[in-house]
Amino acid sequence: MPPAHSITPASPVIILADLAAVARLAQALAAETEPGDVVALDGPLGAGKTTLVRFAVAALGGEAEQVQSPTFTLLHQYHGRVPVVHVDAYRLAGPDALAGLGFDELAENAVAFVEWAERVLPALPADRLWRVALAHADGHRSAVVTPPPGRTWAFHAETQ
Ligand SMILES: Nc1ncnc2c1ncn2[C@@H]1O[C@H](COP(=O)(O)OP(=O)(O)OP(=O)(O)O)[C@@H](O)[C@H]1O
Ligand SMILES: [Mg+2]
Repeated sequence: MPPAHSITPASPVIILADLAAVARLAQALAAETEPGDVVALDGPLGAGKTTLVRFAVAALGGEAEQVQSPTFTLLHQYHGRVPVVHVDAYRLAGPDALAGLGFDELAENAVAFVEWAERVLPALPADRLWRVALAHADGHRSAVVTPPPGRTWAFHAETQ
């Protein structure tokens, strides 16, 4: 058995009752992430992945009104105070297709947000990866955030 101090406590469930709650989460993520970090967004259709990216782009000084689910263009860049790369992996064939978009080079100096990240997970940098699992059931929305290994996440939704 590993020593007790190495056991990572489970990340708390953050209730996203309304768009303001998404904005607070996005602002906290924007504050915690650094260029080179990748935020993997997973969750069912309509769970709020793009909405979270839009608020994060706003928090990082980019043009949030331009953020939409990438359709024909699979990768978008926003040039705010901190550059943001936004990918929707829903239509990507797999991890190799992400490399084909030039993701690694573009994400190097940006904070990257990847919707449907599970589809391309092997191509994402495990040591820089934030996992955001969004849930949407019975009209209730929530998120669980897991920071990269060795990084802390001190977001307390109830006190925001
Ligand atoms: N916490 C929330 N409270 C209320 N409405 C929300 C919340 N999060 C998202 N929405 C709304 O839900 C809708 C779908 O959100 P969004 O497009 O962000 O989902 P998505 O996960 O990106 O979907 P897709 O899988 O199609 O890419 C939008 O109209 C958005 O405004
Ligand atoms: Mg979307």
